[in-house]
Amino acid sequence: MRRLRVNETMRRLVRQTTVSVDNLVYPLFVRSGNRIKEPIESMADCFHFSSDLIAKEAQEVAKLGIPAVLLFGLPDKKDKTGSQAWAEDGAVQQAIAAIKKAVPQLLVITDLCLCAYTTTGHCGLIKNGKIDNDETIELLAKVALSHAQAGADIVAPSDMMDGRVKAIREALEKNDFPNVAIMSYAAKFASAFYGPFRDAAESAPDASTGLIDRKTYQMDPANAREALAEMALDIEEGADIIMVKPALPYLDIICRARQRFDCPIAAYNVSGEYMMIHASAAAGHIDKEDAMMCILTSIKRAGADIIITYFAKEAAKLLKK
Ligand code: PBG
Repeated sequence: MRRLRVNETMRRLVRQTTVSVDNLVYPLFVRSGNRIKEPIESMADCFHFSSDLIAKEAQEVAKLGIPAVLLFGLPDKKDKTGSQAWAEDGAVQQAIAAIKKAVPQLLVITDLCLCAYTTTGHCGLIKNGKIDNDETIELLAKVALSHAQAGADIVAPSDMMDGRVKAIREALEKNDFPNVAIMSYAAKFASAFYGPFRDAAESAPDASTGLIDRKTYQMDPANAREALAEMALDIEEGADIIMVKPALPYLDIICRARQRFDCPIAAYNVSGEYMMIHASAAAGHIDKEDAMMCILTSIKRAGADIIITYFAKEAAKLLKK
């Protein structure tokens, strides 16, 4: 077997999986205000941007050849229903417009959820101590519309309510946005690996609601067949792209999804997975670039077409060399 490993050229010739810059999506955090580019404490090399500075960052991303960004918003004020999520002048809505004006060819994907906008920090409305599924999906459809109106190319619901893909697809069709695609966080597992992100998005659930975590809507890590059922349902409801999240502890789910479904599959290399590499490299235990490429390759090899990763810029630079 070693004959085909003798040197890099030979290895290149027989390589079975390659990560391309075309596969990468770069997440960005936007907030209201002006001239803000603040480092995010919990996530190395990541920043909060105001919408006036986001265009410059988007230009840099596009220049690296990365096809898409995924936007997360932090509102000025939170309320019970998360109403800033569909505000016309919200941070995300303004950022979409700014990016589309500066770099029209860069695809703008928007995360669709209420958790950063509600005082409870939950992804859905709470009624009588429980998440109200059906009222929540009506609001999510409203958020989707406001993102579409601002110019989003793809909306990405991450809330894990039942039936939201159908509600969003219907709202988009009814309001003349037939070409806005849906990338659903279809198999999203309840995970400790979202920790750094929740600090960055100020979206940790408030325990005083009585709901201390997201386990009544995000999936149980133990369930693989259920993940396939979630993905099948979302495709049936109209999702164009399905996502598995997190990526690394769920490579088996990506692999099984690839065998079962023909639509594009995205995998989210989440904040905790990213910081694990950063922290370990900073402590001198591993080589960051090698570890990064090992991980991105594993996600691609498992069967993902699209990899959402905070490493996107770094990986794009490396792949250019
Ligand atoms: C919002 C959302 C989360 C992430 C993406 N969208 C956090 C959560 O569900 O608590 C996590 C992303 C990451 O960890 O990088 N629902």
